[in-house]
Amino acid sequence: VRSGGIPGAVMYELHGSMIALGPALEGIGGDAIRERIGERRGVLISDSNVMPLYGHKLADRLGVDPADRFPFPAGEGNKNRIEWSRLTNAMLNRGVGRDSVVIAVGGGVAGDLAGFVAATYMRGIPFIQVPTSLLAMLDASIGGKTGVDTPAGKNLVGAFHHPELVLIDPTTLRTLPQREYRAGLAEALKHSLIDSADHFEWLNANTTALTALDAETLAQLLRRSLSVKHRVVLADERESGVRKTLNAGHTIGHAVESASEFGLLHGECVAIGLVVEARIAVALDIAKPALIERISVAAQSLNLPTAVPESIGVDAVIAATRSDKKARAGAVEYALLHDVGHVASAQSGYGTAVPDEVVRDAIEGSR
Ligand SMILES: NC(=O)c1ccc[n+]([C@@H]2O[C@H](COP(=O)([O-])OP(=O)(O)OC[C@H]3O[C@@H](n4cnc5c(N)ncnc54)[C@H](O)[C@@H]3O)[C@@H](O)[C@H]2O)c1
Ligand SMILES: [Zn+2]
Repeated sequence: VRSGGIPGAVMYELHGSMIALGPALEGIGGDAIRERIGERRGVLISDSNVMPLYGHKLADRLGVDPADRFPFPAGEGNKNRIEWSRLTNAMLNRGVGRDSVVIAVGGGVAGDLAGFVAATYMRGIPFIQVPTSLLAMLDASIGGKTGVDTPAGKNLVGAFHHPELVLIDPTTLRTLPQREYRAGLAEALKHSLIDSADHFEWLNANTTALTALDAETLAQLLRRSLSVKHRVVLADERESGVRKTLNAGHTIGHAVESASEFGLLHGECVAIGLVVEARIAVALDIAKPALIERISVAAQSLNLPTAVPESIGVDAVIAATRSDKKARAGAVEYALLHDVGHVASAQSGYGTAVPDEVVRDAIEGSR
């Protein structure tokens, strides 16, 4: 953590990104973005919900030409190559050149999609992230991963491309729907689980304040989560080792998300994944049985689901795990917890292969 930089902000530096937590977009935050853009041409990409809430206001403040504001329809179902193609064509038609900066405003979908547009447009132009969902603030906007989903699975086409600046204004969360906010808390739960018992206990002790969106508790949550993500990505940018710990809950989570055909939110699937993967860890004798209960109770107190819904078949989930990026030479890898604060198999790169029968039992055991 660095102080200085932007007044009143908690600053982090990560592989060339400046991350600023705190400053309001309609004040110092907006000024910081304008300064960063400087003489370059700013183009703003935002989804159809966030553009009218924050995108246009910020674009006005930054002097972005109305024709250089590119909305796309909100939702995970639009984080795909069709929208990537439409957005890049629109930018080409407007004559957006290499001297431009993409400003991505919205949740993780806007960040991943606009980031991938920036990563590929004319072989890569800079971008700035303005995350407005909790999930994007504490996870998706940090770490340089951009990309889109494909019919074969999530995030399978993408690029590493770090934003120049990530500007996090937590007051934008006031308009975020409750269900989306809770989904973001699932990633905070994951961060606490891979971090330490202390972090996990802090989260458990503050669920009421967090559900009520208490500003000071929320600021602390963001600081804690950002520190974990920052530390891990700093140590292993390209995910050859410790960054894999961030995949906890995500092998099952991504599979359930694909199998639900976007009926469930990413964070909801991560909560389910954390519980099901704890069951897997217990079945493999990697964790003690009490871990399942500890994680389930924490998820429930954040009003998050803990079981794969009956409407989603076990076979569909198992089939979906195979298209996950974490599948290596046919074996699906899991970042399993040994205990709160400890991911198992550090010697073998934090990946554990799991037989299908064990996955099947864990999914069925969760419902
Ligand atoms: N790149 C990474 O490292 C990384 C990490 C985690 C997740 N992700 C990706 O992030 C995505 C999920 O992100 P998400 O949960 O933010 O979804 P999202 O971007 O779809 O946003 C959720 C919903 O909230 C709306 N919204 C966002 N901010 C709002 C605000 N302030 N007020 C009102 N409405 C608002 C959006 O329009 C959308 O309808 C997934 O695609 C996931 O794969 C990426
Ligand atoms: Zn996630």
